[in-house]
Amino acid sequence: METLISIEHIVKKNKQGTPILSDISAKIMDGELITIIGPSGSGKSTFLSLINRMADPDSGSLYFRGTPYHEIDVLQLRRKIGIVFQLPTMLPGTVRDNLFIGPALFRESLSEAEIDELLDGVGLPPSIKEQNARSLSGGQKQRVSLARTLANRPDVLLLDEVTASLDPHSTEDIENLIEKIHQSGKTILWVTHNLSQAKKAGQFTWVFANGKIIEQGRTIEIFSAPKQTITKEFIETSFAKESILS
Ligand SMILES: Nc1ncnc2c1ncn2[C@@H]1O[C@H](COP(=O)(O)OP(=O)(O)OP(=O)(O)O)[C@@H](O)[C@H]1O
Ligand SMILES: [Mg+2]
Repeated sequence: METLISIEHIVKKNKQGTPILSDISAKIMDGELITIIGPSGSGKSTFLSLINRMADPDSGSLYFRGTPYHEIDVLQLRRKIGIVFQLPTMLPGTVRDNLFIGPALFRESLSEAEIDELLDGVGLPPSIKEQNARSLSGGQKQRVSLARTLANRPDVLLLDEVTASLDPHSTEDIENLIEKIHQSGKTILWVTHNLSQAKKAGQFTWVFANGKIIEQGRTIEIFSAPKQTITKEFIETSFAKESILS
């Protein structure tokens, strides 16, 4: 398997100079689905923002297919590395308008057949493209948000808590959808607070704590036999909270 993204000793500090991420090194291989877990404030979202180059590290390097990030046009890089957030932000206009945003940046268009294919890929009927995107339900917006990112034909999909604001039914739909997208060959990095989801969906899992990846490995091993005490305690308390809430 080819290395898709290589992360070498990255450090990111806040304005006061305190590290948010300290000396992170990791590799993302083509086609992997990695779930990322860890306490709130441990740096997961900041990490994704560096992967997608919404921000640059203070030191360290990132490589996409072996090329240093700074040698790649930012827009091209962001096109290859798509991101979807917890709250899908629909721009004014129809679903079709929203799907056009990415390709339009590259002076490209989408054919009706491509639009229908993207919508079908996220389980939405072709008729929805005429609807006002802001009038959709939360689950539908998140599907459009995924389709909008996929319209750029990214190699990697970064997901930051994409089901956190959805009801259980929509959550399950989106989980199935992500599984399908992964099976089509996409590399996925999925940050989630929902540990049942991280355990069920991941092939590999990275555990963040205090701005570091404290543990990484096969998902099944991270959950059945965590090596670090912090991981063990985090998993135990998170599952305890999930069982109280469900
Ligand atoms: N734009 C910012 N400016 C200053 N500090 C920030 C900024 N974004 C994040 N931080 C700080 O960086 C640290 C890591 O935040 P981050 O959002 O990456 O954590 P997280 O693991 O995604 O947390 P959560 O699980 O709550 O989403 C936190 O201490 C946060 O306060
Ligand atoms: Mg976050």
